[in-house]
Amino acid sequence: MNIVVGVTGGIAAYKTVHLVRLLTKAGHEVTVIPTEDALRFVGLPTWEAISRHPVTTSVHEDVAKVRHVALGQAAELVIVAPATANTIAKMTAGLADDLLGTTLLATVAPVVIAPAMHAEMWQHPATQSNIATLRERGVRIVGPADGELAGGDSGPGRMSEPEEIFAAALAAITPGDLDGRRIAVSAGGTREPIDPVRYLGNRSSGRQGVALAVEAAERGAEVVLVAANISHDVLAAAQHPRIRVVGVGAAAELGAAMREAAAEADAVVMAAAVADYRPAEVAAHKLTKESGPLTSIELVENEDIVAGLVRDRRAGQVIVGFAAETPVAGGGVDDAELMERARRKQQRKGVDLLVVNEVGWDRGFEAAENAVRILGSGGAVVGSAAGSKREVARAIWDAVVKLSQ
Ligand code: C5P
Repeated sequence: MNIVVGVTGGIAAYKTVHLVRLLTKAGHEVTVIPTEDALRFVGLPTWEAISRHPVTTSVHEDVAKVRHVALGQAAELVIVAPATANTIAKMTAGLADDLLGTTLLATVAPVVIAPAMHAEMWQHPATQSNIATLRERGVRIVGPADGELAGGDSGPGRMSEPEEIFAAALAAITPGDLDGRRIAVSAGGTREPIDPVRYLGNRSSGRQGVALAVEAAERGAEVVLVAANISHDVLAAAQHPRIRVVGVGAAAELGAAMREAAAEADAVVMAAAVADYRPAEVAAHKLTKESGPLTSIELVENEDIVAGLVRDRRAGQVIVGFAAETPVAGGGVDDAELMERARRKQQRKGVDLLVVNEVGWDRGFEAAENAVRILGSGGAVVGSAAGSKREVARAIWDAVVKLSQ
């Protein structure tokens, strides 16, 4: 495969030498395009020796072969590592004042970038907005990792390790196992209005559902993400050309949006924390102490959305539910009882897979990490995962893919 590796001016360029080596060892033809600035960190002879191809930064060489666009046209994949804040800004604006710039504009191949910069530069709204734009255009962003930076600082901004960039690059050119599948995911937590300014809600951040949507999109699926009250920060990660976000508030709205999305979906995941009850009446005006003391709120039961989706399911559609349970340490039940409850819940709702996650004051909801077991329809544990919500998402899609084979 023809791969272009763009190298821009950051100290992490030395790690890219190893990335180029991994790519050539795997049998790819690699053309390195450094920027002028990058050559201050790693010199031209190194890039030529490691890639076994001539290397130039200039658009004025090989003019007869229209090199400034030929490399981009011939590329089957473009990687930019490290990608500095400056290069990211140039990519966003479509600037083409050097060979890397023209190549990036001339290519229709997948593009993977590995940002590397100081934490402040990474967190700057300009960089964050550029990254969001690139992501929307389909550019895959690897990292940056959190860790020690040049100059002894630390924070997010460190370039991901070459092995990780290599894996992301391969993933970008391998058709995903969810290629062309249509998927509906609900995420976040519903808010049931009490009056115009108050609601009954829960602490679900939506991170697990967003991770599910992103993982599915990256594996090739077309995703509708029904997002209930997810903060801007969390939802930012869901910017992807194959994810359509539908924002909702209360359970009834979430139900309507999911029914619509599920009517065309091959798989449905109900990761949202849906309120089981809502206030029987919603006050038209803000309740005040003057309108009388409020010591109780009468509640009525919400419909079970996932059970309804199971009832109306399309042929072959896989439906996944979640069960959040508090174990003993959280004042709940022991493990055997927790799993027994989960099995009963799965039977009651009729879902194909039930993802059981332990929640409590300090785990599951809001946290970045999660630990789950996945129950199959016979009640057996067919998968499990512990770690980042992305890793958990991976295990859930693996189980869905296995079921639909
Ligand atoms: O019964 P419980 O709330 O624990 O069930 C959790 C699962 O059911 C989740 O997948 C959740 O999205 C879904 N659910 C639903 N409608 C409700 C309550 C929960 O679809 N009213």
